[in-house]
Amino acid sequence: MRVVLLGPQGAGKGTQAQRISEKTGAEHISTGDLVRAEIKAGSELGRKIKDYNDRGELVPDEIIIEMAKPYLSETESWLLDGFPRNEAQARALDEALQEIGRDLDWAVALEAPDEELVMRLSGRRQSQATGKIYHVEHDPPPEGGDDKGPFIQREDDAEGAIRRRLEIYHEHTEPLKDYYGEKGILVTVDATRGIPEVTGDVLREMGQPAEGGT
Ligand code: AP5
Repeated sequence: MRVVLLGPQGAGKGTQAQRISEKTGAEHISTGDLVRAEIKAGSELGRKIKDYNDRGELVPDEIIIEMAKPYLSETESWLLDGFPRNEAQARALDEALQEIGRDLDWAVALEAPDEELVMRLSGRRQSQATGKIYHVEHDPPPEGGDDKGPFIQREDDAEGAIRRRLEIYHEHTEPLKDYYGEKGILVTVDATRGIPEVTGDVLREMGQPAEGGT
């Protein structure tokens, strides 16, 4: 199973990728996590891309393509979260897949209105211990469980950066729905439903057993 997850910031790509990965065994590849790991490591590359990330701008295509590419051939089965984000990246992904003789099975577009997304992102917390994503109201970080955190708010979840990321999504990423629609592999899912319901809908749309949605 090789799947691209599309959707605006806060639609739940990371949340759903984690859940579907646990249920299907497909690897969760998040270019956002790769970017944040590089920044945290303080590498030369990390210093170069930090400013783009913090302002909510896209990291230049040539950099992000080089970061994502090695992961595509590492496992047979994966969910790409946050890549591609524009047509140049989608074409680069097609070329990379052609080089390794593999096809994309699905592009799953998670859909939700902007007002809901701003509310979700301002309540998001991520565990520094496990990378797991939570929401202060809809999916609160556990108290006294295995995941001890700390549960932090991302630099780019400030309101100005959230609005900028949504603008970029509508201008550059949303047109990829047509790109994959023309290839006949696009499915769209209403992401305003509860987290388990959305998981069930995504699995069903991809022809996977949907009991995992609960
Ligand atoms: P990235 O980390 O990919 O961030 P993003 O695209 O802004 O996406 P998000 O992580 O904000 O949203 P999500 O859809 O994953 O939502 P989540 O599941 O967390 O990228 C960060 C930066 O890296 C970019 O801005 C850019 O600089 C760079 N970058 C990355 N990829 C790049 C690329 N290809 N090209 C160039 N630059 C790139 O959910 C959000 C919140 O909502 C959570 O709190 C969650 O608990 C909650 N929630 C989720 N689903 C539901 C639900 N159904 N009901 C209620 N709450 C929900």
